[in-house]
Amino acid sequence: MSLAQMIERRVVSRRLTIDVLVFDTTPSTNDVLRAMAQGGACDGTVVVARHQTAGRGRLGRTWASPPGGAYFSLLLRPMLEADRYPLLTLLAGSAVCEALRALGVSAALKWPNDVLVCERKVGGILCEVVDGALIVGIGVNLNSHVADFPHEIQERLTTVREVTGHTVDIATFIADVLTGIGTRLERLEATGDDQAVIEEWSRLSCTLGRHVKVVDGGQVVEGLATGIGPSGALMLETTSGPLLVRAGDVQHVQQGRPGP
Ligand code: BTN
Repeated sequence: MSLAQMIERRVVSRRLTIDVLVFDTTPSTNDVLRAMAQGGACDGTVVVARHQTAGRGRLGRTWASPPGGAYFSLLLRPMLEADRYPLLTLLAGSAVCEALRALGVSAALKWPNDVLVCERKVGGILCEVVDGALIVGIGVNLNSHVADFPHEIQERLTTVREVTGHTVDIATFIADVLTGIGTRLERLEATGDDQAVIEEWSRLSCTLGRHVKVVDGGQVVEGLATGIGPSGALMLETTSGPLLVRAGDVQHVQQGRPGP
């Protein structure tokens, strides 16, 4: 059975009808799906790559994508107003984090889209809007080794294989994440309960309750991360009062509550 068939058969979701396209190598699954979305591809289309040559991260960064990782993008045409799309970054983060925890990995979420294990990055999510559709791009360092990554980023990342000492079936992992997204999205669309998404993300987060530094372009702000606002923004308590942060790069500057 092909990787695409294995993923399609394992996803259990009333909300998502999954149609998977697999590449051995592609520059970026988000870019492939962007072109497909512009051509009218359906909600539930998924592009998977075993290796990306030009993987992209947030803030214009490169996402190193050696073989062994899970690199995939999901096209959604959600029944939500576009200003609620940032919630889907949080929702996808929760699905990835729970799929990792089910493997025994002590994953936690750093605002807005990083998945960490012991403060080292193991995964990330890049959501992009294309002609009203949402592309949810997910990268997880699954069966790769730290040594497979560029030297200058090795000490900031880890992989599931390094943490657990064994490899994980990539089709099962991707399908479990997609199932998790489908379950959560179905609930959100049915109930309109944005707060439930925020509460789950907050429970899985290692950012809240910590002193953080947020760098956004040339601007740097520091404060205590106190919560998540209605549209997914990070709430900070700074020396000049409360502040809502909608974008930027968060650094944890003080030990907070212990991980899971
Ligand atoms: C981040 O942490 O900055 C987000 C990383 C997102 C990486 C994934 S891998 C699959 C998809 N294709 C891309 O080019 N990027 C996303």
